[in-house]
Amino acid sequence: MDIYLDTANEQEIEFASKYGFLAGITTNPSIISKENREFRQIIVDISSKINGEVWCQVTGETAEEMILEGREMSTWGKDIVIKLPMTEEGLSAAYQLKQEGIKVNMTLIYTLPQVVLAAKAGVDFISPYIGRMDDHAIDGLQFIKEAKEIIHQMHAETKVIGASIRNPQVVVDLAKSGADAVTMPFYIFKKMFASDLTNIGLKGFLNDWKQYQSAKKSEK
Ligand code: E4P
Repeated sequence: MDIYLDTANEQEIEFASKYGFLAGITTNPSIISKENREFRQIIVDISSKINGEVWCQVTGETAEEMILEGREMSTWGKDIVIKLPMTEEGLSAAYQLKQEGIKVNMTLIYTLPQVVLAAKAGVDFISPYIGRMDDHAIDGLQFIKEAKEIIHQMHAETKVIGASIRNPQVVVDLAKSGADAVTMPFYIFKKMFASDLTNIGLKGFLNDWKQYQSAKKSEK
């Protein structure tokens, strides 16, 4: 399962990139707004620093507007994926951008009929919003399994990326349920490391080592 970071924050990207396994960075208009800098410059900067995809979301409302934005954004870095809303206009724009060789993601996926259409259109990725689904009593993990099954049966190559992640256990469950990828906010990435038992165990080892060292010193 590929791991993406859902952020546009330079410090967060720098921290997570040092492990070498990030498949890329995903953004959306809310994430970009938090940075309070020019959109294009944010994407150019991220693209020049990371080794992976950078996902940018269009904000136009018609297919024509989305196509123009997508074309332009695809020139902002070496590996840009264009995020389009899973609407009639969005899927039509996705089809056109795909024809031009631009990678596309359908975002805000909430229903299985949407999965069928996106797979049929041959989009590269779909993003079911697990956390927001759970907020509305839709079983997000079950959704991922069914989306994978549909894509498999349709012989499509669309990848399923679990989005809107609210806790580290969901990341584990996604990995077990066969999701192709996950994108998580930085605070979840940090929480993935956390274990009191690891900290207590490490403290114990280091204390024993210090005691042993000082005992050896006092023998001399
Ligand atoms: C996905 O690509 C979105 O950027 C994101 O995961 C949305 O998550 P949220 O529900 O935490 O805003």
